[in-house]
Order: sequence, then structure tokens, then C-alpha cells
Amino acid sequence: MGRVGLNAESPQTKEGGSAAFRGGGRATSFRLRILTARQGSEALKLILLLAAALTGCRQDMHDQPKLEAYEGSSFFADGRAMQLQLEGTVARGQLLEDEHLTTGRVDGALATSFPFEVTREVLERGRERFGISCSPCHGHTGDGGGMIVQRGMKRPESFHTQRLRESPPGYTFDVITRGFGAMYDYSDLIEPRDRWAIAAYVRVLQRSQAASIADVPASERARLEGGL
Ligand code: HEC
Repeated sequence: MGRVGLNAESPQTKEGGSAAFRGGGRATSFRLRILTARQGSEALKLILLLAAALTGCRQDMHDQPKLEAYEGSSFFADGRAMQLQLEGTVARGQLLEDEHLTTGRVDGALATSFPFEVTREVLERGRERFGISCSPCHGHTGDGGGMIVQRGMKRPESFHTQRLRESPPGYTFDVITRGFGAMYDYSDLIEPRDRWAIAAYVRVLQRSQAASIADVPASERARLEGGL
């Protein structure tokens, strides 16, 4: 019974009924402890509240009132959320009025020239895009020995065969746009200007692998020949 009395008393004291202890040095520290404990529980409540509020926000952002692509909707007459493009309209970036630039052809024949000036900047862009999109199969020099080929993909013809060296730039553009045999087309991943930049860079690769001493400026030639 004595133990029960003690137990019943101590929570009472903790809840602020510390009159019995007031005045004693111990009482002060006891009260301090009580306050800290109270503050602690207040802080905990606040944290829980904040957490609940934040989770609420996150949930809102995850689940905004919107329609997904293939979802049904009563808003439109045909019951679909995703609407077909209206006949006679052209979406931004869809206008393909420049035949040379967007199809790689001029009057229906594969273009033998580029639709814009090939500057160093264009070639740098082409090198970067080639490295990302083509080198995994065609290799960094275009010899056809890229990593995917080493792992089992059909080996493409080297870009350095006479046939491909003599093919017009419109042909490289066409292969990127429409694919070729086992190679998929890249028209949805590489926009027309980048296809041309890649085609220009393929020319650089071809030139680099078929260069002769005559391509070296006369001023550099002696140094090269002397060194060899
Ligand atoms: C996933 C591998 C892969 C990637 C990536 C790839 N190609 Fe190819 N490419 C091939 C294969 C395989 C062939 C040969 C297809 C065949 O003969 O059936 C080929 C063929 C070609 C040809 C030669 C067509 C011919 O007449 O022989 C060209 C040019 C070409 N690719 C350019 C590119 C360019 C430019 C890129 C980058 C935009 C690219 N390829 C990206 C696999 C790839």
C-alpha cells in the first residue's frame, strides 16, 4: 500500500503539485526539470503538427487536380482528357516548311549541301551529339566498333568505306531521320539542326581518317616529315 501511495503521489508532484518541496534546493532543480519536460512535450507536439502539415503539402503537390494523358474526362464531348490535334493547326516546333532543313532533301533528292553554314560551333555541337547518340554503336571514329556492337549489336559499315565517304550529307541526315535496316530512327530524339550538325561532324571524321600529307599546310609539312 505504501508503495502505491508513493507512486500515486509522484505524478501529482510532477504535475506542479510541488508545494511540499518548495523552498528546498532540490525543489528548484525538480521544477526546472518539470518545465523542461513540459517544453519538450510542447516541442514534440509542434514537430508532429508541422510534420503533418508538411506531409499534407507534399501530398497536395503529388496529387494535384489534373488529368493524366490517357484518362477519361467529362469535360470534352469525346470523353478523353487528351485531345487530338485540330485539323489544320500546327503546334510549336512542328512547322516543317523548309524541305532542305527538315527532310534532308532538295526537290526530292538527297541534299548534297548543308542548309546552313557549317561553322566551328556547328562542328563542336556535332561532335558532342555524335558522342552521345551515335558513338555507342558507330564508335568515336565511326569505324563501327562501338560498345553496343562489342556487346552483340550488328556491326554497321564503317563510315570510312568509299561508298559512305561519297554519300551526300543528306544521306546521313536521312538515316538519322528514318533509320536504316537494324538501326532505329532518331527523329524524335535529335532535332533537325542537330542532325545536320552530326552529319557535318561525320564529314570531319571521314576527312580525318582519309587525310594525306597534301592536307597538311605547307608550313607544317616540313616539321611533320622531318619528325617522321
Ligand atoms: C544502337 C546502335 C546504333 C546507333 C546508336 C546508331 N546507329 Fe547508325 N547504324 C547502326 C547499325 C546496326 C547500322 C547498320 C544497319 C544495317 O545494316 O542493317 C547503322 C547504319 C548507319 C549508317 C550507314 C547506312 C549505310 O548505308 O550503310 C549511317 C550513315 C548511320 N548508321 C549513322 C548513324 C548516326 C549519324 C547515328 C547517330 C545519330 C547513328 N547511326 C546511331 C546502329 C546504330
